Amino acid sequence: MTQDETDRVRIFDTTLRDGEQSPGISLNVGEKVEIAQQLARLGVDIVEAGFPIASPGDFEAVQAIARDVHGPVIAGLARANAQDVDAAWNAVRDSERPRIHTFISTSDIHIVHQLQTTREDVKGQARAAVAQARALCDDVEFSPMDATRSELAFTAEVIQIALEEGATTINVPDTVGYSMPDEHAAMWRELYRLVPGLAEVTTSVHCHDDLGLAVANSFAGVLAGCRQVECAINGIGERAGNASLEEIVMLLRVREADHGLWTGVETREIARTSRLVSRLTGYQVQPNKAIVGRNAFAHESGIHQDGVLKERTTYEIMDATTIGLEQNEIVLGKHSGRHALRRALEELGFEVTGAALNVAFKRFKEVADKKKKVTALDLEAIVSDEMRQAPQAFRLESFEIEASSSRSPLASVRVELPDGAVADGSFTGDGPVDAFFSAINAATGHEARLKEYHVSAVTGGHDALGEVTVLLELGGLLASGQGVSTDILEASGRAYLRALANALAEAGPVAEAERHLEGADEAARTPTP
Ligand code: KIV
Ligand code: ZN
Repeated sequence: MTQDETDRVRIFDTTLRDGEQSPGISLNVGEKVEIAQQLARLGVDIVEAGFPIASPGDFEAVQAIARDVHGPVIAGLARANAQDVDAAWNAVRDSERPRIHTFISTSDIHIVHQLQTTREDVKGQARAAVAQARALCDDVEFSPMDATRSELAFTAEVIQIALEEGATTINVPDTVGYSMPDEHAAMWRELYRLVPGLAEVTTSVHCHDDLGLAVANSFAGVLAGCRQVECAINGIGERAGNASLEEIVMLLRVREADHGLWTGVETREIARTSRLVSRLTGYQVQPNKAIVGRNAFAHESGIHQDGVLKERTTYEIMDATTIGLEQNEIVLGKHSGRHALRRALEELGFEVTGAALNVAFKRFKEVADKKKKVTALDLEAIVSDEMRQAPQAFRLESFEIEASSSRSPLASVRVELPDGAVADGSFTGDGPVDAFFSAINAATGHEARLKEYHVSAVTGGHDALGEVTVLLELGGLLASGQGVSTDILEASGRAYLRALANALAEAGPVAEAERHLEGADEAARTPTP
């Protein structure tokens, strides 16, 4: 099939910005760069790397991504004020393809209650911000926030101003996920009529999933003429999340013959990107999630199994290999050496050398001793567990848990603290995991509270690696961590310590960001989107 450039839909990934605003997600700079690098491998067109004014940590991450990630456009978000636009520019300016994305609300509900200003002032702020951004950068995106609850004629006026000042992409967000597909398409048709200049720039949809319609609304926008979709891996984002990248991309791919639209995404990287984001954010993917859920390609009923065994297409509309499932052919055993491990890691996209390779090899040997075959999925999990340390890492040195049906379990742990000192703690609990986590609190001197605890197996088989995700609360902050081991209790301890370190790392920048915003003017204090 020949693909016409005018039918190409640009994929704008906002996993690291809108997605990262989900409660409990606390990615450090290294993790953000790693996700951005995987997004580049996935072939997204634009990576929205963060919101640079929000905190020094956000700024640093956007700047690191702008410097280290090649291929996609790297965008930084800015409210429509001078400090935000400057910060966004300074963070993305080192990218080969920088973009400033600035926004302001056009709905009266936001203008009156949140911004506490007037429509005239919004027009002035939009004009000034786009003009400033355009003086700094050739690629400027403008978004009238809460557009789907705004008076359309006013949104059109503000968009017209952004175009006059040189915006190159106009993104119209359904900020609170209120739209319906037919209404969304009609809104776009009316905007194209009211603002003829929209035909000359890239138009973009940004839909939230509060009514479960984010992908349907995004698709309606694309059918109405938009050629950019803003979306996030696994659909993460504010509240119910953003349109899910994998769903919109596969919708465009699977039904291309019918609508003629296409993307540049390398779909075989989808499964891996989904696993990486889930692991690093601590956000589990629901089993029945379209495309990337564990059951998305599983067949339970006898009739379906029978059909698929005879002919896959009887009950499948896409092949699992298209999204990169079932192509994990790498298998190492306990006799595999350092060289084989390095090659396998390279094949998976991990450049591990020197001391990091020694650490990875030691861990690989521990796992390979207990597990006959170490697969690509196992390696991904081991790397994720071993190589990603929070800046202030704790290390689980040893633990002992006594549990029986007749008395409360007792756990004792020894933990290496970030400063290298070693601390012991003991505690009883309602169950072994509860006792273990309380003993870690005692050893580290932190009163963290467990909010969520998940265990899953990385692969099938009785010797599978167990992966634990912990969400905890410390001083009002939520943070998650993961741990992997053939021993589920060890995986739990590792996950808890990592979540604790993430919470402490998060507590630093938050305090710093509050100080940072103290001097900012009223407009700059508008809460983050
Ligand atoms: O949902 C929204 O309105 C946003 C904007 C900042 C684009 O995320
Ligand atoms: Zn949003």
